[in-house]
Amino acid sequence: MQNPFRPTAGATPPIVVSREGLLREFGYGLTIRSGAPGLLTIFTGARGVGKTVMLGAAEDLAQEQGWLVISETATPGFMARIGEAMRRALAELGDGPIGRRITGVTLAGFGVTTQLPPEEQVSWRDAGEQLLRLLDDHRTGLTITVDEVHAADRSEIAALAANVQHFIRDGLPIALLFAGLPAAVSDLLNEGVATFLRRADRIDLHSASIEETADSYVRLFAEGGHHLSPELARAAAEGTGGYPFLIQLVGYSLWQEAEAGNGDLDDAAVARAIAAARRRNERTVIEAALSTATARDMDFLIAMAQDDAASEVGDIGRRMSARPSLVGKYRARLIDAGLIEPAGYGRVEFAIPGLADYLRAYISR
Ligand SMILES: Nc1ncnc2c1ncn2[C@@H]1O[C@H](COP(=O)(O)OP(=O)(O)O)[C@@H](O)[C@H]1O
Ligand SMILES: [Mg+2]
Repeated sequence: MQNPFRPTAGATPPIVVSREGLLREFGYGLTIRSGAPGLLTIFTGARGVGKTVMLGAAEDLAQEQGWLVISETATPGFMARIGEAMRRALAELGDGPIGRRITGVTLAGFGVTTQLPPEEQVSWRDAGEQLLRLLDDHRTGLTITVDEVHAADRSEIAALAANVQHFIRDGLPIALLFAGLPAAVSDLLNEGVATFLRRADRIDLHSASIEETADSYVRLFAEGGHHLSPELARAAAEGTGGYPFLIQLVGYSLWQEAEAGNGDLDDAAVARAIAAARRRNERTVIEAALSTATARDMDFLIAMAQDDAASEVGDIGRRMSARPSLVGKYRARLIDAGLIEPAGYGRVEFAIPGLADYLRAYISR
């Protein structure tokens, strides 16, 4: 058996740990087909926590139910790309055999990079309405997923929300799922660009349970013919902190250890796998997240790294010798960048596992 772990952004893991039941409302909504709360869902969470994976799981579920899926990322022009995909689906399905269940048609949009002029918006809505009526006749519907909404152009999000709201009001079978970083999504909802989205089910993704992570390791290694004792699986799982990207990285490295060693895995192999996984997490997630940080942003983060848990913003200001207004500005910037999160009144904490350790090592270098 090949290494089953998938330590790559968006890749489906061999076992989706600790996400049981999160798609229940959405699945139920698919049977209602229009206006059910679960049909409007937003996944939020830190980088690497599994938002894209959840969108993928929802897409699979929708396709199993015979729904059409349009899967997009909120880079500029996504509204036009969704419109194009709808028109294409309409052209393909419009002349197709009637009564056939429409399964497994995933449409990636093509590269239209402009925003929609007003006349296009009308035809966007027309195309959507026609497609949805056609799907409705077949007792199915359309699921649109938009990933990375934190980066979205506000006017495109507003246009999408307005159109979808209109479809829902007409009782048409539409589902809309978003994923994005928590603070940016909160801003998006609070700014009033798309008030209607506040009604969405918001599912905040957190770390997986250590126990379920350990169980998943025991199962996967057994399937591959490698013996991994429950104690070692537990140690490996603890090394991940339940952070999904690390679950894949540690599993991946440990599998390589199992392939390399001819005997059983031992404590040393687990320790090596955890160390290798953390290094890779630093290189990929952490360094990518820090790549846009300025020198002052780094000062803020380093000031935070002196605390063992959440930091008081006041303390950070003193350590940086910066005025409160300036500290507030950096705080907001870093929250937007997904590096830190509010942790109760006047406090912040790191949003990415391993970031605190990384910064402490950085200070001592
Ligand atoms: N529930 C989970 N259990 C195990 N691994 C997961 C889970 N969710 C995501 N992963 C893995 O974590 C990594 C990051 O997932 P991804 O969906 O890209 O995160 P995000 O979109 O939040 O940045 C991927 O390697 C993926 O396979
Ligand atoms: Mg993602």
